[in-house]
Amino acid sequence: MSTTEASSPGRTKYRFEDVAPDTLAGRFMRQFWQPISLASAIEPGKARPVHAFGESFTLYRTEDGAVHLTEFRCPHRRTQLSTGWVEPDGIRCMYHGWKFGTDGQCKEVPGEDNANYIKRISLKTYPVQEYLGLIFAWLGGGEPPAMPRYTAFEKAGYLDVTTYFRDCNHFQNIENGIDEVHVNFTHSVGVFGTSGLNEEVPQVQAEQTSYGLVAKGIRSDGRVRDTQFLMPNILMLKLPATAEGETDWRNYISWRIPVTETLHMAFIVQGIAVSGDDIGKFVAAREAEAAEIAKLPSFKEVSLKVMAGEISMTDVPLRPDITGIQDYVTQVGQGEIVDRSQEHLGRSDIAIVLLRRLWENELRLLEQGQPLTQWRVPDMLAPSKGL
Ligand code: FES
Ligand SMILES: [Fe+2]
Repeated sequence: MSTTEASSPGRTKYRFEDVAPDTLAGRFMRQFWQPISLASAIEPGKARPVHAFGESFTLYRTEDGAVHLTEFRCPHRRTQLSTGWVEPDGIRCMYHGWKFGTDGQCKEVPGEDNANYIKRISLKTYPVQEYLGLIFAWLGGGEPPAMPRYTAFEKAGYLDVTTYFRDCNHFQNIENGIDEVHVNFTHSVGVFGTSGLNEEVPQVQAEQTSYGLVAKGIRSDGRVRDTQFLMPNILMLKLPATAEGETDWRNYISWRIPVTETLHMAFIVQGIAVSGDDIGKFVAAREAEAAEIAKLPSFKEVSLKVMAGEISMTDVPLRPDITGIQDYVTQVGQGEIVDRSQEHLGRSDIAIVLLRRLWENELRLLEQGQPLTQWRVPDMLAPSKGL
């Protein structure tokens, strides 16, 4: 098969990279509960801006611990609401003190005595839920469906919850998650380099499932690494235990969330099988790692130097976040939004072709006003065979 023929299966008439609410892909992503913040990023009595899916919002937490998501700007004269004061039952704008209840209803307009006018003003609010150390939002309008539960993570001894930003379209990272062959090259150095995974380029297979797809990296000695992809933007896999006191494989789940079309974030939850004193040791090791990274040039600075040709990837010393640097360089290296019309896909891109087909099918259903596929939450896979 020539490379030109091989490229056609990955072609699609739809723009997966769109994020705004008036685009097909943007509407599709809003048909799912999506994480928009770390729960730890918002303390009681505080508000902050959140940028996601090409929109901006105000996230705040009242003193009772409940989180609330509303419009970004004050309806009065449009300043940023997150700069205001969180009150026990709502938020007050910093500019002229207009007060809004947690249901979004305007409650007070200093200097205004027309109660009917006040009653007519409200903020748009969005359903939110705190779960697994993240704040999930429903941005799809109307009555939200029940939020999916990922029970394997509810049982973990310790939940390690992290986030990062990457300066390219989220769909590039969605595709990367099921790209088994990139591990051999992009991650030839670092944890994957020493895991035994990279001794040979695996044969790639992909199967559609009730949740999305499973991608398999099959090695000649029978070892297989499975990666579960949950529609529309979730990666779920097992990672070997590496920390002291870890008694089982790690459960890993990650959401790729657009901020704008050219910037995205990932939210990662790892269920770590530790208990007792080992929890404290794990947290201390994580903190030591973070302190080590904080002393180094940022991952973005290093990545951009590699991309500018100022240093080469082989000059980058091993560091705890080397995997993130490697992925940044290859994904941002595709361009802010990859031009898929210029790609030439091969046999090893079979999982990516399947992923695009699943997305294409859903976007077509949405376009035609038909019901979308009801995806399930899968059980965690057993640890990949032989790894
Ligand atoms: S802009 Fe918010 S109260 Fe005036
Ligand atoms: Fe990677």
